[in-house]
Order: sequence, then structure tokens, then C-alpha cells
Amino acid sequence: MLTRKRFLGYGFGAGADLLFPHRFSAFAATTPALDPSLLTKFSDALPLPTAAAPVGPSAYHITMSQFRQRLHTEMPPTTVWGYDQSYPGPTIEARSGEPISVTWSNELPTQHLLPIDRTLDGADTGPDVRAVTHLHGGHVPPAVDGGPLDWFVPGESRVFTYPNAQHAATLWYHDHALGITRLNVFAGLAGFYLLRDPVEDALPLPAGSYEVPLVIQDRAFFANGELRYPDEGVTHPVWVPEFFGDTILVNGKVWPYLEVEPRRYRFRILNGSNARFYELFLSNGEPIRQIGSDGGLLESAVALNRLLLAPGERADVIVDFTGQESQSILLRNTAKAPFPNGDAADPRTVGQIMQFRVTRPLAGVDTSDIPPTLRPIERLAPASAAAVRDIPMFEHLDADDEPITVQLEGLDFDDPATIFPRRGTTEVWRLINTTGDAHPIHLHLVQFQVVSRQRFDTRRYSPTGPPTLIGQSKPPNANELGWKDTVRANPGEVTTIVARFDDFTGTYPFHCHILEHEDNDMMRPFEVVA
Ligand code: C2O
Ligand code: CU
Repeated sequence: MLTRKRFLGYGFGAGADLLFPHRFSAFAATTPALDPSLLTKFSDALPLPTAAAPVGPSAYHITMSQFRQRLHTEMPPTTVWGYDQSYPGPTIEARSGEPISVTWSNELPTQHLLPIDRTLDGADTGPDVRAVTHLHGGHVPPAVDGGPLDWFVPGESRVFTYPNAQHAATLWYHDHALGITRLNVFAGLAGFYLLRDPVEDALPLPAGSYEVPLVIQDRAFFANGELRYPDEGVTHPVWVPEFFGDTILVNGKVWPYLEVEPRRYRFRILNGSNARFYELFLSNGEPIRQIGSDGGLLESAVALNRLLLAPGERADVIVDFTGQESQSILLRNTAKAPFPNGDAADPRTVGQIMQFRVTRPLAGVDTSDIPPTLRPIERLAPASAAAVRDIPMFEHLDADDEPITVQLEGLDFDDPATIFPRRGTTEVWRLINTTGDAHPIHLHLVQFQVVSRQRFDTRRYSPTGPPTLIGQSKPPNANELGWKDTVRANPGEVTTIVARFDDFTGTYPFHCHILEHEDNDMMRPFEVVA
């Protein structure tokens, strides 16, 4: 199980291959790929997503549509999908304890921008264009969760009221339609949802223009500027096991730069990529100080030389440019794709994310600070769990070692639920990764805590019994000690998490946040019962 063919990361190498990638024979003959090494890096300023404008008290109306947007000065405009004519979408700012309602309107065209694989569950019947917005990290009732079955078609709208009954956090919203989530998100349907609260307000963190959201995504393009998503699969006609692009975008711009003052900044970093992990570091050797994880502030800041971010994960960080006047600092990436055993990140392309130019004069004394305690975190006790569940993950290969599907619990998404947490109880879930890749596992509804990781004997493992654990159990990394909604399950390891299922009953999904996996079929329901 732990061996798989290296090519599986559906990569786009650099060089001549790019022009005629053999897997794109149908397309490549007529439409050449864009060679990203021809684009001048750091020629566009980092765009800041606009703030979503309320249409009434605590009410928003956000429309999905297709439009063209220039993603790099040297590229023709690209046809994308976005929210309110923007890719990424506008940032929704909300406050804990103050519900807001969002009317999500689908005004997308009736023809999809990207090739659909009709052999995938959910994409086999029904209209091409279906969309539904999920608030990732939101503690919400099932009716407004925006789950994979709740899609609606062009011309329709849904009103979702979000209770915001949770801590300040960097949440995000993105499309979740069954069987085409990877395509809808790739086309551009994602945005930030920042939740604030008095605990965070009281901290002297960089704020205002010194607080900047950064969504990192990899893409590939045709020379005419259009998005290039693989359209030729192996066991499924147009499904690839992972999409890895050769071009990096931040906030919808290809390799942008940001001019900064020599002071502290707060960055809300989101890995909004379909499948690519990032191992981020600053070229000047300065640490990245992480102050928050998916579900809110950490108890205290963690200084990192490398920040590892799986698809769907967020890191709230502080970067200090003090004393760096006139420097150009690169944010770089060394994560292999697939992670952690795939191809090295090409230092000329996906090894670079964006540039910070410390060219702005200091506008005033930097009074920001990182206090020793950010927010006390209540630890959930695994010992008090009402249930301990073993959740294996499998990858199924065909006779040629090509992946057919990836699964949780050995079941498909449309098989009946087997997991019924009782409302108000705490559960321990052991995520058992029998595959060769890391999978970021995301639970809807809850913010959970990571308990431990431990290797197990993959050859002796059978889903009918517990895994045979090997060696020592490792504690979570220091930057994983806060609230999480997405956790990296490493290959050959059991990743143990603990969650409390409060407030709402009903059915929610949990899934791998590698969107190609989620679409085929690495997603399962759980039902919280009274
Ligand atoms: Cu970010 Cu179920 O998704
Ligand atoms: Cu996965």
C-alpha cells in the first residue's frame, strides 16, 4: 500500500514537456500550454480582496458568476469563476456571537468552464453546473453547512444564516458541489471569512493595513491565458488523482509582490490549492511566528523556520520586517508533490510564492506586539471520549498501479453512515493512513484537537481490527496545539484527534481536502444524534 507510482502527482514538469504534455494530446496539438518560466515574477502588486459589503443589517448578497480577470500583466485575461466578480471572492468580516445571513446566488453559465468526469459520484447525472458554498471551519447547523448534496443550479439562490458562535478565526468559504468541487474551486470559487472577537481585539496584534490575508493556489494555463486543468485521466476518463500546477498565485495574482514597511505584519495564510502542500519559509532566514491555526488563536506564538500547510489549512502568522529596509524577501516553498514523498518543488517556479519589498517608509512607531499568552485553550480530554473510532483510508489501484479511487472507512460517500456521535459528547477518531501520501482530513461542524501521531504496521493492518502501533507516539507539532478543522494524516501513521460534537444534530461530511480525492470518493458522512 505504501508504494505507488511516482507519476501520480499529476504534475506539469518544466521545459519542453510543458508544450506537449503527453497526457494532453487532444488539447496540446492545438493549444500550447503557458510556460510559466516566461512570466516575469513579482511584476504585479498583491491584490487585497475587497471587503464584502452588507446589503442590510448583518445581511450580505454574494453572486457567483463567470468573468475575465487579469492574473498577470504579461498574460491575457483569464476566464474564471468568482464571487461578486472577483477571484478570490470578497472577504466576509464577521464577529463572534453576531449572526449574519448571506444570500448566495448562482449566476454561473449553464456550461462548465472545465471538463467534467461523468464517472464520478454526483457528476454522473444532473446538470453540468451546480454550486453550493460551504463555510469551511464554521460551527453551523446542517441546513446552512453547504454540504456536497446541497448544490443549486444557475438562476437559483440560497440564504444561509451563520451563527458565528465560535472564537475569532480565519475561516474561508468555497464551493462544495458533489463530484465537481475540484473544478469549481479551481475555476476560482473561494474567499476569506474572518471572524473576530473581543479576546483578539484586546491583543496588540498588527491591524488595519498591517493585517493581510494571503490565499496561495497553484494553477496551470494555456498560452492564451485560459485555465488548464487536465482533461485526460486513466481509470476515470477525465479524473486525475491530484492536480499540481506549475504557476503560483496569491490572492489571484501570479507571483505577486507586496510593498511593506519595516515593521510587524499579520498574515492570514490559507492553502487554497487543490492538492499541493506548502512548506513555507522566508529567504532572509527570519522566522515565521504562528499565532493561530484553523479554529483561532494558539495559546502562545510558535516561531517556525518552516511553515507546513496542507490544502484547506490556515496559519495566522506574524512576520517582522523591522530592520529590513530596502530588502526584497522571498516567500519560498520546498514541499514535495505529492507530499511528502513526491517530486521536489522546482525552485524556479513553484518553489517561489511571492516577494515582500521593504520599500515603504515607516508610517509610525510599530506598537504591535505578540503577548506571551494569546488565548487560553481548553484541552479536550481523550480519556473522557464516549467513543473511539478507527477510520482507515485506502487508495485503490488498478492492475497498472493507476489509482481508481481513494476511500475513508473503505466506503463510498453514498454508502450509509456508520458514525453517529451523540450530541454533547466527546469522541476520539484515529485516522489510519494506509496510503503513500499525506491526506489533510477535514471535519465539518467541529473544531477539534490533535492528540498524537504514531506509526503502525501497514502490512499487517486489516480494517477488521485495530492497527498494530510501532514505536513512540508523537505529540502534535507546537503549531497544532490549538483548534483545528483540517489535520495532516501522514502516510503509515495513525493520527489521533479529539472532538466535541456540540449544539447541532444532523448529517455532515468529513473528507480529504485534496479536492481530487474528495471528488473520488474520499468523503464520508457522520450524523450527530440527540
Ligand atoms: Cu473546505 Cu468540506 O471543505
Ligand atoms: Cu487525500
